[in-house]
Amino acid sequence: MTILVTGATGNVGRLVVDELVAAGAKVRALTNNPRKAALPAEVEVVEGYLGRIGTLPAALEGVETLYLAPLPRTVREVVRLARAAGVQRIVDLSSSNADDEAAGDQSGWHYYAVEKAVEDSGIAWTHLRPGEFMTNTFAWAEQIRTTGVVRAPHANGATAIIALEDIAAVAARVLLEDGHIGQKYELTGPEAVKRKDLARQIGEAIGREVRFEEQTREEALAELTPTMGEWAAWYVDGIGQLVEHPQPVQPTVATITGRPATTFAQWAARHADAFR
Ligand SMILES: NC(=O)c1ccc[n+]([C@@H]2O[C@H](COP(=O)([O-])OP(=O)(O)OC[C@H]3O[C@@H](n4cnc5c(N)ncnc54)[C@H](OP(=O)(O)O)[C@@H]3O)[C@@H](O)[C@H]2O)c1
Repeated sequence: MTILVTGATGNVGRLVVDELVAAGAKVRALTNNPRKAALPAEVEVVEGYLGRIGTLPAALEGVETLYLAPLPRTVREVVRLARAAGVQRIVDLSSSNADDEAAGDQSGWHYYAVEKAVEDSGIAWTHLRPGEFMTNTFAWAEQIRTTGVVRAPHANGATAIIALEDIAAVAARVLLEDGHIGQKYELTGPEAVKRKDLARQIGEAIGREVRFEEQTREEALAELTPTMGEWAAWYVDGIGQLVEHPQPVQPTVATITGRPATTFAQWAARHADAFR
């Protein structure tokens, strides 16, 4: 049984490849740049990208199971080709806000479009819906290194932040095991952590105090709009809502992998060098 991992050099996809190889699965990896990708020797590497449809028929040949990275622009064509190639199962990476489509949430729409195309394909599916990634805190690394301070909005906004390693471990189990068809798995870390406590725990990991300095909404928007555009307000106000309504913790990672989800303190200790 060949499993095709799309976005195989991506933050999640690369870890999915490692999990599948460790489990002894037959893995094919899709990447734009096979030579640069440095994938494990056991992996069959195919040149291509979900955004370049012409590369997919060859990549899908003989594939039974597909790990699908989220790219709404081409997803309808991708699942059509997957069906034509005889793919039996799709495990897609979506997001915890995929259901927000109905409320007109912009980010939710992105993932809803992927999930809907997968469901309409007629192929058996499982949606993986992670919340905020622990790696998002790498965006603070430079200010931590240079100032020892995190300046960000809503110190008390709390998400059940998740390690990419846990998402990949769940993905591998779902790709390899029976019993997950038609499931929408909300994936979170083991606790809801406030922004100010993320900063504090990074400090503990690097052995140096890291202070959290709360920005006003206006300060945060002025800083983020040049790179995030209209998404900046969505992002800042979304964290604001998490002050009153912290993201609920889900047991899914532990239930599916049989081991507890990674805490932010454990993750920060493992990645401390990125903040030093
Ligand atoms: N951050 C969060 O809190 C959060 C939460 C929920 C979901 N998510 C979503 O999770 C996903 C995780 O990302 P990921 O890094 O695993 O996968 P990804 O962003 O889908 O990228 C996977 C790979 O696809 C190729 N690629 C991506 N964009 C491309 C482009 N414009 N042109 C050509 N090739 C491109 C690159 O590989 P090659 O060059 O090797 O081919 C890349 O490594 C993201 O889509 C993100 O939106 C994020």
